[in-house]
Amino acid sequence: MINIAIDGPAGAGKSTVAKAVAKELNIVYLDTGAMYRATAYNAIKNGIDVNDEEKVKEMLETLTMDVMYEDGVQQIVVNGFNTTPYLREHYMSKAASDISAHPCVRYKMVDIQRELAKTYDLVLDGRDIGTFVLPDANCKIFLVASPEERARRRVAENKLKGQESDYNTVLEDIKKRDYNDSHRKVAPLKKADDAIELETTTMSIDEVVATVIKIVKEKIQ
Ligand code: DC
Repeated sequence: MINIAIDGPAGAGKSTVAKAVAKELNIVYLDTGAMYRATAYNAIKNGIDVNDEEKVKEMLETLTMDVMYEDGVQQIVVNGFNTTPYLREHYMSKAASDISAHPCVRYKMVDIQRELAKTYDLVLDGRDIGTFVLPDANCKIFLVASPEERARRRVAENKLKGQESDYNTVLEDIKKRDYNDSHRKVAPLKKADDAIELETTTMSIDEVVATVIKIVKEKIQ
């Protein structure tokens, strides 16, 4: 199996890069952030506080999650309900970051991710793929960029989707999530020792994609 790990903080361009790599190699892209978002969505929908570990643990006892693809686009079905249209709402980012800090949530998501990685050639993007989920991945990339540049990219990306967003609010959210994601106890956001770090602040997204594809091809061929 080919498994490629693309990790990094929020807004570093992971999903754009991971999708491009998956397309180039004709393999499946797994957006692991969407799995944490779907878990948070299910909690909110059921009136469960994402920070209440006991309640979240109880919710997980009966939670089923299926990752599917419709016309090549990932769908996350939780307890038979397709959560995909609701996962990119602004408030879901912080909720996903909060719920992802609970070890019980991480272990459940990581089990599903490892199972998928055993079955399919995958490009996975996330925070802990290279360090924790798949320490033996064939190729590990860690993307970084300044918080200001990541906020600028996020605002531009939202604009393309027809959503107006305030730069300072997005920047604050990104900084909070960076802190949250890199300070949790289990599998925090961290570069794996054997990952290739790419500092992308002054690169265009096309340059980042081209550079990563070159690195991946060299590693797996
Ligand atoms: O990549 P994203 O913005 O969709 O991720 C949402 C949150 O999910 C992120 O702030 C932290 C969490 N996450 C994680 O803990 N581990 C992953 N592999 C992916 C995401």
